[in-house]
Amino acid sequence: MPSQDVRSGSTCVVGLQWGDEAKGKIVDLLTSDHHYVVRYNGGANAGHTIVKDGKTFKLSLLPTGILSPHICAVIGNGLVVNPVRFLEEVKNLRDAGISVGSNLVLSDHAHLIFPYHMEEERLFEQGSSQAIGTTGRGIGPCYEDKVSRSNGIRVGDLLYPDHLRQRLQAVVARKNLLLHGLASDAKQFDADALCGDYLGYADQMKPHIQDTVRLLNNAIKQGKRLLFEGAQGSLLDVDHGTYPYVTSSNSSVAGIWSGSGVPAKHLSRIIGVIKAYTSRVGRGPFPTELDDGPTGIGETIRKIGREYGTVTGRPRRCGWLDLVAVRYSATLGGVDEVTIMLLDVLSALDELKVCVAYELDGQRIDDFPGDAFLLERCKPIYETLPGWRTDISAVRKPSDLPANARRYVDRVAALLQLPVSIVSVGPDRAQTILMR
Ligand code: IMP
Repeated sequence: MPSQDVRSGSTCVVGLQWGDEAKGKIVDLLTSDHHYVVRYNGGANAGHTIVKDGKTFKLSLLPTGILSPHICAVIGNGLVVNPVRFLEEVKNLRDAGISVGSNLVLSDHAHLIFPYHMEEERLFEQGSSQAIGTTGRGIGPCYEDKVSRSNGIRVGDLLYPDHLRQRLQAVVARKNLLLHGLASDAKQFDADALCGDYLGYADQMKPHIQDTVRLLNNAIKQGKRLLFEGAQGSLLDVDHGTYPYVTSSNSSVAGIWSGSGVPAKHLSRIIGVIKAYTSRVGRGPFPTELDDGPTGIGETIRKIGREYGTVTGRPRRCGWLDLVAVRYSATLGGVDEVTIMLLDVLSALDELKVCVAYELDGQRIDDFPGDAFLLERCKPIYETLPGWRTDISAVRKPSDLPANARRYVDRVAALLQLPVSIVSVGPDRAQTILMR
């Protein structure tokens, strides 16, 4: 990984599309230059697949940095945590020979997901014409409870059994009424049983729970370097994404300060990650989507790129690279450089398109519209580039890329007016081309 001021300050790796940009691989490549890897948003709705030493690891909640022994992996206050998933991922890692102890820290201010959150989400999503197409992990309802204040329960509450019990008794009574109001056959919950279950989880989680704001700011004072790992992509950010078809957290760079307690002034390098094309799971506008049937280019990309959700297994919607959308996210995030992932997937195609502007109601627009209903009406304006039709998965140097692949990368950089620092040509750590 090229070093550009990585010796000082902190780095952020953030997705510039609708998630699944293969950020985990970039985080993994950067860990050797850092001491802490910090997640600041979301929960077990994220899906990070990392191939390391020939083994494939799938993480949803834990930071990918946990795979490197020198890293302290931190789950920041901005996350929503399902203890069952947390303990399951810890167990899976230990079973695979990864040591998990004081190298995993969980914020006492992260919020807890309870089974009633999943039920609430199910009732909202099921059969609704307004469904978002969520991951079903209780993420939205848990964030709703956080913001409501009356219903939120935090990780730190697990350390005070009487307080937790009282809190659950009040919250569960309200939840049961709400759920029954939504559907007469909705599941009902028992506060004491939930309290018993969660105190059981607490016993195993206790060694990891800490005030992570103090931990991280002290680490900075001691000259340690932090690597922030964004989950989902910037276009799914609840404030800045394609609302309402977004997740419930600030998944762009904007979430770092609130979701970790680390002031933004400590960020010295912001790396935006994009795929060489675009994918999206769940509902919402997607101007460059290739909905061209079972033998079309969309399906070809899906098959070659194995574009199926890590969390839900859903087929991802696939389409051409949308540079209007990426330009918007890169500006929003103050991105310094871009990495292009999965370029090898495009090797099968004769020609490639990149979206350079939209047509909205007969007018050309160069800026990403702020509203999903307007984006829905946008038609992509494409630039067409020649394909390379050669396997590039073994290429390791920029000079070994076929001319048309190099042309594609250079054109993306020019249209974004940002340097491309890395091109990835396969899931393995070695399948990486440092461009600078
Ligand atoms: P939620 O985060 O489960 O509430 O889902 C809200 C929207 O974000 C849905 O369209 C999901 O498919 C999408 N989403 C959530 N997490 C991810 C992710 O890690 N990658 C891609 N899409 C995601």
